[in-house]
Amino acid sequence: MKTFITITAFILVGVLTALFFGFNQTANSIDYDDEQEGISEQVIIRFSHVAAENTPKGLAARYFAESVQMKTNDEVTVEIYSNGEIYQDQNEWEALTSGKVEMIAPATAKLSPLFPDWQVLDLPYAFQTEQAVQEAYEGKIGEELLNDLKRSNAKGLGFWYNGFKQFTNDQHPIIQPVDMDQLHFRTMPGPTIAAQFDAVNASTSELSFNKTYRNLEVDFIDGQENTVSNIYSKKFYKEQSFMTISNHAYLGYAILMNKSFWNKLSKSHQEAIVSSMEETTDWVRRHSIEINDSQIRELKRTSDIQIDVLTNAQRKKWKEAFLPVYIQAEKSISPSLLREVKRIQNHYSSHN
Ligand code: SIN
Repeated sequence: MKTFITITAFILVGVLTALFFGFNQTANSIDYDDEQEGISEQVIIRFSHVAAENTPKGLAARYFAESVQMKTNDEVTVEIYSNGEIYQDQNEWEALTSGKVEMIAPATAKLSPLFPDWQVLDLPYAFQTEQAVQEAYEGKIGEELLNDLKRSNAKGLGFWYNGFKQFTNDQHPIIQPVDMDQLHFRTMPGPTIAAQFDAVNASTSELSFNKTYRNLEVDFIDGQENTVSNIYSKKFYKEQSFMTISNHAYLGYAILMNKSFWNKLSKSHQEAIVSSMEETTDWVRRHSIEINDSQIRELKRTSDIQIDVLTNAQRKKWKEAFLPVYIQAEKSISPSLLREVKRIQNHYSSHN
């Protein structure tokens, strides 16, 4: 009995000593490790996006990261996760607003299920030149759309450019609206995009970007619409026989930061980020055209895809076919935004 009491007492003293020193050790290591001071000054921005690195968005993300690092003397580091490596279309908004990442750059269409006004940027043939798109993104439309985000935990930093969308499919050349009849397309989300395909009797499935290739490969879908840089970098052209240069709508990005994170940044870091954002926007506006152009040259040189370019007369027919989309849009897009689209269209009417 005596031996039992002695052993129990030893074990008890041992456990209490270990617990005491163990806790104390943890507390001390946080309080007194002077290396922690340096770590706490480092700000990391985890930037997740779904596109490839050799695209306008991928290259702009890199440009932005380098600029922020330089302007903050290495105090802020932007870590880029591309190709949907950590978050994809269906969960990147949640990841941003709950603070799992600090930055995302979804295609503007992907905000439309939460913020219906964002559909205005998907109206077919709404903006027919790069200048018209710039006027929308950097003018009244962009301002109103970014304001709309204020009711969420996302802060809109601005817009980045990619390019005009083109149709691809594996059935036959698409030249006239009637050529869309009965084809099945992958789309980004939003009633406006669905209405665009409805108007020409095509059916659609909303699929995430990173699942598109697989769905083309197994022939679940006949085609998709995208910029040349996405068609090239994601190798969609390998599963498609026909591409139509229709320039029927524009694909660009909303650049978003977690709002709680933004509010905690120092004033000087916020200023550096805003300035890097302005420089990157300017860079990607100028370079996105060149990136898409050089990749279509590569497609012509290295692939078998047939590329048809719509003439102005053919484009006129598509614009007529898409008119019902504008009527449907009145149900879900603010009149002030639709008026601004009209104004921009009239302003650039010589290009129509
Ligand atoms: C992207 O460019 O980020 C993806 C666009 C798409 O989902 O088609």
